[in-house]
Amino acid sequence: MNSQVQTEERAFEAALGDAVREVDSLIDRLIPVPPGPEARVFEAMRYAALGPGKRLRPFLVLQSARLFHVARRSALQVGAAVEMVHAYSLVHDDLPAMDDSDLRRGRATCHKQFDDATAVLAGDGLLTLAFEVLAHADTHGDPAVRCELVSALALAAGNQGMVGGQMFDLIAEHRPDLDIGAITRLQRLKTGALIAFSCEAGAILGKAPHEVRMALRGYAHDLGLAFQIADDLLDVEGSSDATGKPVGQDAVAGKATFVSILGAERARAQARLLVDQAVAHLDIFDANTELLRQTARFVVERHA
Ligand code: IPE
Ligand code: IPE
Ligand code: MG
Ligand code: MG
Ligand code: MG
Repeated sequence: MNSQVQTEERAFEAALGDAVREVDSLIDRLIPVPPGPEARVFEAMRYAALGPGKRLRPFLVLQSARLFHVARRSALQVGAAVEMVHAYSLVHDDLPAMDDSDLRRGRATCHKQFDDATAVLAGDGLLTLAFEVLAHADTHGDPAVRCELVSALALAAGNQGMVGGQMFDLIAEHRPDLDIGAITRLQRLKTGALIAFSCEAGAILGKAPHEVRMALRGYAHDLGLAFQIADDLLDVEGSSDATGKPVGQDAVAGKATFVSILGAERARAQARLLVDQAVAHLDIFDANTELLRQTARFVVERHA
C-alpha cells in the first residue's frame, strides 16, 4: 500500500473516530435519565442509541455539511437525530416479530436486555425524540430549514422510505421469484432512504443549490445500495465476532438479496462498481470530498 493511500485511510479513521465521540456525547446529553418509573425507557433508549455502532449516518451528515461550511453544532444535531432513527429501526428489526435477533453490536439486543414491550417503547421514544431534536432552535437558526429537515427525515424514515422497505423485506422472505430490479427497490427503501437523507442533510442545512443536492443524492443512492450489498455479504461470509450480530440469518429466512440472486462474487463486483459510480458524482464539487470518497470505499471493504 503506498503512503498516500495510508495517509488518506488514517485521516478517514481519525475523522470517523471524532464523529463517533462527538455524536455520542450529544446523544448522551439529549437523553438524560429522569427519576421516576419511566426511567426504564430512557435507559433502553440510551442502550440502543449509544451501543458501539459505526455511526456512518451521522458521519455522512457531518461530511456533507462540511461541503457547505455549515456550523458543526447544526450538523451534529442532525447527525444525532438520524442516528436515533437508525437505532430505533434496529431495535424494532431485532424484535421476535421481525428478525428475532439476540445479538446487536456485540451485545444483547434491546429486547433481550430489557423486554419486548420496553424495546417497542424505546424505539418509539427514539423516533419521536429525533424530530424534537430537528425542530429545536439549536439545529438551525432558520425555521424553514428545520421544517425542511423534519419533512425530509419523515419521508426517509416512514412508509415511503425505511418502514416501507422493512415491510417489503418481510414479504421478500416468501418471494424467491423477486428479481434484481425488485430487490434494488427494496434496498433503496429499507437502507438507502436514511443514507440519502444523511447525505442531503448537509445540503439542506447549507441551503445548497438544486444541482449540488442532486449530485449528493446520486452519491447516496449508489452508496446506499453498495452498503446493503456489503451487509448481505457479511451475513453470508462474515463472522458474528466481527459484525456483532448473528450471521446466516437471511438464508435461514429464505430472504431474496443481491447475494442470493447474483452469488457472492458478482454481488461483490456490483458493490465495487456502485462505489466507483458513487464517487464519480462528487466530481462537480470544488470542495475537498476525499473523506466522502473514503467513506464509499469503507462501506464495501468493511468487516463489521
Ligand atoms: C445495519 O446498519 C442495518 C442496515 C441498515 C443494514 P449498520 O451496519 O450501519 O449498523 P451499526 O449502526 O454500525 O450498528
Ligand atoms: C435492517 O436490515 C435494516 C433496517 C432498516 C433496520 P437487516 O435486517 O439486514 O439489518 P441487520 O443485518 O439485522 O443489521
Ligand atoms: Mg431485517
Ligand atoms: Mg435484521
Ligand atoms: Mg442484514
